[in-house]
Amino acid sequence: MSVRTLVDGDLDAAVSLHLQVLHMEFLSRFGPKFMRTYYRAWISSTDSIGLAALDENGAVLGVLLGASDPALHVRAMVREHGVGLGAALIGHSLTHPRLAKDLIVTRGWRYTRGLARLVIARLTRKPPSSPVAAGPVVGEITHVLVDPAAQGRGVGRALVEQCVRQARAAGVQELQLVTPPDMAAQHFYERLGWHASGEMQSRSGEDFLRYRLTL
Ligand SMILES: CC(C)(COP(=O)(O)OP(=O)(O)OC[C@H]1O[C@@H](n2cnc3c(N)ncnc32)[C@H](O)[C@@H]1OP(=O)(O)O)[C@@H](O)C(=O)NCCC(=O)NCCS
Repeated sequence: MSVRTLVDGDLDAAVSLHLQVLHMEFLSRFGPKFMRTYYRAWISSTDSIGLAALDENGAVLGVLLGASDPALHVRAMVREHGVGLGAALIGHSLTHPRLAKDLIVTRGWRYTRGLARLVIARLTRKPPSSPVAAGPVVGEITHVLVDPAAQGRGVGRALVEQCVRQARAAGVQELQLVTPPDMAAQHFYERLGWHASGEMQSRSGEDFLRYRLTL
């Protein structure tokens, strides 16, 4: 097994694995076309970390997504891919009214505000303002997923360890992640030396446990 940067050619396999392993996630409900757009936007935006674990035949066994500077990364993703992502979300919602309702209730205001900022920045040709960061440089892992047939064989560990090396090389001093309280992944992260640092609720109202790793 080897770990390398996630590239365009991996996206179909990565998305298919994501929809299989993390089907309960909100964004997974928007299906493969949206998720492909999301993955491509993620890996092509500045400060992203995207990794694929491959078997000896080149099949994708696992995927990790993260960012060495989450704020810069999200801003670049919205700036460069916001319109495409918005169109893919709306396109799928038009034929899935229940999902459209959930989207509006949980994320409508936030996403609309983000798009409005993007439009204003484009019209005025001014980049959206960014707060000055204080304290340690903090990166994040947003997704780690391993093919159920390959779980328990060190694939997840290899992905996280490569992410740590990459983040360290980018000057990151601490990595953070959140995981739903009902997922076994917390034991996985603790085994890899991460420390629980409390509970939090996302801006969309979901409960999460927060984990940190000092690099
Ligand atoms: C969590 C997940 C990424 C772990 O990947 P994996 O390849 O199975 O894990 P590894 O084999 O690399 O395990 C690394 C260590 O964690 C431990 N571990 C892994 N899963 C564990 C679990 N559910 N409970 C307790 N320990 C666990 C392993 O025993 C191993 O310890 P060791 O190296 O000291 O023997 C994988 O199970 C998965 O994809 N789960 C579903 C998706 C998910 O929960 N993702 C994380 C939230 S986004």
